[in-house]
Amino acid sequence: MTDKIIIRRPDDWHVHLRDGPMLSQIVNFTAKQFKRAIIMPNLTPPVITAEKGMKYRESILKSVDPSLGFTPLMVCYLTDDIDKDEVRIGYNEGIFTAAKLYPANATTNSSMGVTDVRNIYPTLELMQKIGMPLLLHGEVTQKHVDIFDREAIFIDEVLKSLIKDFPSLKIVFEHISTSEAADFVFESNNNIAATITPHHLELNRNAIFEGGIRPHNYCLPIVKREKHRVALRKAAVSGSSKFFLGTDSAPHSKDAKESACGCAGLFNAPFAMEAYAKIFDEENSLDKLEAFSSEFGPQFYGLPLNEEKVMLERTNTAVPAEIDIMNKTIVPFHSGNNIPWKFSRL
Ligand code: DOR
Ligand code: ZN
Repeated sequence: MTDKIIIRRPDDWHVHLRDGPMLSQIVNFTAKQFKRAIIMPNLTPPVITAEKGMKYRESILKSVDPSLGFTPLMVCYLTDDIDKDEVRIGYNEGIFTAAKLYPANATTNSSMGVTDVRNIYPTLELMQKIGMPLLLHGEVTQKHVDIFDREAIFIDEVLKSLIKDFPSLKIVFEHISTSEAADFVFESNNNIAATITPHHLELNRNAIFEGGIRPHNYCLPIVKREKHRVALRKAAVSGSSKFFLGTDSAPHSKDAKESACGCAGLFNAPFAMEAYAKIFDEENSLDKLEAFSSEFGPQFYGLPLNEEKVMLERTNTAVPAEIDIMNKTIVPFHSGNNIPWKFSRL
């Protein structure tokens, strides 16, 4: 039995750090484990210009503990009338690493998102030309579509034609939650990859309703049937370079989650690597964790691998029931439980 692994320091290819007073506390949870992270731009107002991207990056760097050696990778939020020069300038000047397509009203702070993907075809044309990755929240939003089917229908109604029209556009299908998405990525060419969260690997949809409504297990895309969780685990440990780590850690205060209309998102940043190690261990695939966490992501983005090392040991980590941040309380993923792995930097 493997009791300890030493791997390259990982990166998080999808995280929400928020802004304002929350940011200064939240960022250090991510920076303690990850060297780099792709920072989601769904602020209010969202990050739609290169200048805003630069300012947001500055405030992250001002907030983070400098001894952690953390690099934020910024993302442009696409809107129906996004100025493609902002995307081009932001990318060429090294401010933006990627651009994010939120279908309008698909999730938190997405009301300014894209109402029809054809509205941004000129920007996608440009991104394909300059090699800038498109990050997808892959869910349709029509009211008649069942919430559990939104991702599978997105593949058929949006993604297939997007790939046909932009065959060399680099696409990350974010936080995949279905076997359909895993199969689609496996079968597509190497320009399409996917991130997988620890909560979509850990939970099935019963977790939202276990003995009563469980708002802390509510996220978007919503966690699905057991067969999907099994398929995601298979993809994560497959050794395919198309699947890599993206926590989608998305903190909301306890009040905002435990409400008549609770916010979507799990806060998994404090014990993210412990949560992934638990899953890879359960799948007898600890030998695949390093590539998933620290190699396939940078390879897809064309970035160097991290040289620092981190350690995961088979030792219990007690996850607190609640974490106080400024004057807010946040309930973390695995709240009040032990995870049988412990993360440390070397
Ligand atoms: O659960 C989620 N929370 N999914 C998203 O797509 C957005 C995120 C957030 O920003 O809270
Ligand atoms: Zn997200």
